Amino acid sequence: MDSKVFNVGLGNNDFETRKKSDSDFISFWNEQAKNLSWFSSWTKTLDWNPPFGRWFVGGTLNASYNALDIHQNTRSKKPAILWEGENGDSRTLTYNELLTEVQKFSNVLKSLGLKKGDRVTIYLPMVPELPISMLSCARIGVIHTVVFSGFSSNALKERIDDSKSKIVITADGGYRRGSVVKLKSVVDEAIQELDCVQNVIVFERTKIPIKMNPKDHLWSELMKNASTKCEPEKLSSDHPLYILYTSGTTGKPKGVLHGTGGYLTQLYSTFKWAFDIKDSDVFFCTADIGWVTGHSYVVYAPLMHGATEVMYEGAPDYPDISRMWDIIQKYKVTIFYTTPTALRMFMRFGDDIPNSYDLSTLRLLGTVGEPINPEVWKWYFKTIGKEKCPIIDTWWQTETGGIMLSPLPGLETIPLKPGSATLPIPGVDIAVVDEGGKDVKVNTKGYLVIRKPWPGMLLTLWGDDEKYKAVYWSKYDHSYYSGDYAIRDEDGYFWILGRADDVLKVAGHRIGTAELESSIVSHNDVAEAAVCGIPHDIKGEVIIAFVVLKQQIQKNEQVLRKEIVEMVRKGVGPIATPEQIYFVSKLPKTRSGKIMRRLLKSIAKNEKIGDTSTLEDEAAVSEVQSAFNELKKSAKNTKTN
Ligand code: WTA
Repeated sequence: MDSKVFNVGLGNNDFETRKKSDSDFISFWNEQAKNLSWFSSWTKTLDWNPPFGRWFVGGTLNASYNALDIHQNTRSKKPAILWEGENGDSRTLTYNELLTEVQKFSNVLKSLGLKKGDRVTIYLPMVPELPISMLSCARIGVIHTVVFSGFSSNALKERIDDSKSKIVITADGGYRRGSVVKLKSVVDEAIQELDCVQNVIVFERTKIPIKMNPKDHLWSELMKNASTKCEPEKLSSDHPLYILYTSGTTGKPKGVLHGTGGYLTQLYSTFKWAFDIKDSDVFFCTADIGWVTGHSYVVYAPLMHGATEVMYEGAPDYPDISRMWDIIQKYKVTIFYTTPTALRMFMRFGDDIPNSYDLSTLRLLGTVGEPINPEVWKWYFKTIGKEKCPIIDTWWQTETGGIMLSPLPGLETIPLKPGSATLPIPGVDIAVVDEGGKDVKVNTKGYLVIRKPWPGMLLTLWGDDEKYKAVYWSKYDHSYYSGDYAIRDEDGYFWILGRADDVLKVAGHRIGTAELESSIVSHNDVAEAAVCGIPHDIKGEVIIAFVVLKQQIQKNEQVLRKEIVEMVRKGVGPIATPEQIYFVSKLPKTRSGKIMRRLLKSIAKNEKIGDTSTLEDEAAVSEVQSAFNELKKSAKNTKTN
């Protein structure tokens, strides 16, 4: 840990807010919720029926109303979205234009028979029609479920099927690194056997030729005659706003379900505290909306604050590594929010490139998604922020809805420590505990838990209350288990050390081992597979796979590797491609049959192997070890890409 602190703040010193939150977190959040526009007020701030929390019970509101309608008197001509396509296209949507588009599209969805509570899957690239689709769903009480457009048809199918979506919204294609990704054909394949889907809406982004099926409609055709007025539904505070599938370590992806009032309250407050948002700011978050950072801090939080934001369609290093600096200079970005992976990549190319751009408009920098190395933090601070921008390292999860740990320059000035997400936001109770649930000592590794309900907390897992209880609330009696390791230092600062479970974070993307393994074993020649992550200089972590072939398979290993990679790309998507694949004759398992990934990881990282007393077959360890050593010698051959 780097003990050096950086005293850079924005001069805000509102210590009262923290004091209030310490004395009574429920009345604290009760006050915060009043920042939103409600159609009717709530009768109870928190209904806590552990582990189910319902915030602002009895209150009614609408997310799209809070994002758009409330700005029409004061900011109707203010740009909401400054969009830049990867190929240089650009569009500006004002708050008024965005509201008009949303009302029209809400009417389109209604005309296709959608009712409050129905689900819609959105599989779009980073174009304004993505937030427009989400806000239109929200306007009429339809639950949106956005699937990252890098996911494969199989992953998409699973998500559409689980949510039983009636409509899928997609595009003909999207631009990525200069080529067109044919999204519509991915949807065609995904819905082949799904009866639930009644209509598909296709936004024409690239104008490539597409095959239209009976269920398909063109976005432009549907919008042509749509009425520009659509009243927002008055929805109860706990009405589900969206499902976002996230990866777990067992079984299918989990449908994290977020509500409306509590979720938006946390977003409103954290956006103000962490990003210190002002009317004059130009905010730029590089996350794809397909992930939670995009849902919360590209769509809902900035729009609720009436902010102007940049939305970028493509790869951050296309056509070259200066693209982000070019965007910051061009749009005079003041707040920049990105991932450690992106920063590590930029840093590798040195200072000259960012130094040749005018980044002087920047006043605050943020990072999210994975631990940030202190040297990368310092590079961000010096080279990009010129030592005048506070860095906010924000820790949170799909499940928490919004930021939970972060410096809060919009609220208070505290010393920053490179690599630490610092302190909990006001009104939440976060701790580091041991196996038994007791607080660990200062500077001791333990599990990060949340001890009190918080407004942005997930309502449940879609259709599976039992799994919700089991995954998050069964390890400890009264605490939410985050799945992360952390330590807390002598100043009470939190340092996140990475996942304690088998969830992978590759280039900041959350990938579950279960989905990956099941796509590998769907290969005809494969009997069993186990994957784990090992550290990587740029991506933070990369995937390696251990594969047991069926008996008597005599195929060339290189051919098999290629085929397995193809299975993964089809099963999950290119982001889950294993970096290396090792063939072994058995996997190390516990007596109860669980694969010991910890062991695979240690072997792959050349670490000392810890306790193996629970192992079923010690031979498996030495076998995996020797297979690994052998393959390492011929490391060139094991690379899959
Ligand atoms: C990791 C992303 C270290 C962590 C918002 C968490 C982080 C998982 C940080 C959630 C951070 C997120 N420092 N690790 N600042 N932020 N993580 O659901 O392991 O995609 O549990 O949400 O990302 O990933 P998710």
